[in-house]
Amino acid sequence: MRAPLVDGFGRVHTDLRLSLTDRCNLRCTYCMPAEGLDWLPRPELLTDDELVRVVGLLAELGVRTVRLTGGEPLLRPGVVGLVERLARLDLSLSLTTNGLSLARMAPALRDAGLRRVNVSMDTLRPERFVELTRRDRLHDVLTGLAAAKAAGLEPVKVNAVLMRGINDDEAGDLLQWALDEGYALRFIEQMPLDPQHGWDRSTMLDADEILGRLGERWSLTPVEVRGSAPAEEFLVDGGPATVGVVGSVSRPFCAACDRLRLTADGQVRNCLFAREESDLRGPLRSGASDDELAERLRVAVAGKKQGHGIGEPGFVQPDRPMSAIGG
Ligand code: 5AD
Ligand code: SF4
Repeated sequence: MRAPLVDGFGRVHTDLRLSLTDRCNLRCTYCMPAEGLDWLPRPELLTDDELVRVVGLLAELGVRTVRLTGGEPLLRPGVVGLVERLARLDLSLSLTTNGLSLARMAPALRDAGLRRVNVSMDTLRPERFVELTRRDRLHDVLTGLAAAKAAGLEPVKVNAVLMRGINDDEAGDLLQWALDEGYALRFIEQMPLDPQHGWDRSTMLDADEILGRLGERWSLTPVEVRGSAPAEEFLVDGGPATVGVVGSVSRPFCAACDRLRLTADGQVRNCLFAREESDLRGPLRSGASDDELAERLRVAVAGKKQGHGIGEPGFVQPDRPMSAIGG
């Protein structure tokens, strides 16, 4: 075991978000233009061997939880084999997906050692799903969710982003559906990460507003244990079901942040909103030792800013969109 990854504010980093690809088979309007983005060239992506080496080293540095992200992580060729190799490390492994491939892959992922999934779904209305994602695939997401539950990838979590005038009328419908189906729903405030740089705070529904709307139909009791988890959880009508709200913008949780990120092309980011990255792929491919890689990771974490600064003067959105950073 090596000394843990600690930043200048004493935050110990134990959680890794690992992006496996920047590609996606949806085109959510808040994430991508209709034509997609310029995908990273394949040789620039870390190979499975490189990923397993880095994650193994991070485990020695105290990382305990790893979430696989994208783009859409299930589009990475050979992802089940990679999950199997990562699951052999002493880590809790989860996945954030748009759900399209789960109907086919959930059992194999579960057998490979995956523990849990978060599925992104912002609407229950098929026509609206087409408007939001530019693909007619709501049915596949719903089938994928059911397959995840059947495969025992529980609790199955659903992430929804509400946008004013677009799907904000569905807050209650989404929760009622999640309660009926036994999924754990979380609403996420929309963050300024779109490639069009068109984010506007006024179209975002903030945590207060979301909770206000849900409060009209259900009684919500805060669950006390929050720790470093970004979602604030609430018991719905006394429980046991809960609903979560991730107030990344209006209720930032930077002070308790324990996350670092690795992009699919091997760049370490100490924050979603970081303006700088530090390259791990170069050293990996030029024969760096584990000690040298560990030192790079240490320096990358040490330079983390105190907070994301959204809403403060001088805030500049990161150059990479969400799909290339990993959610
Ligand atoms: N703000 C908040 N969430 C976002 N996601 C994508 N872009 C944004 C954004 N700008 C969500 C997706 C998915 C997860 C990977 O991140 O809906 O749930
Ligand atoms: Fe794909 Fe997720 Fe971006 Fe939608 S939000 S286009 S599902 S990466």
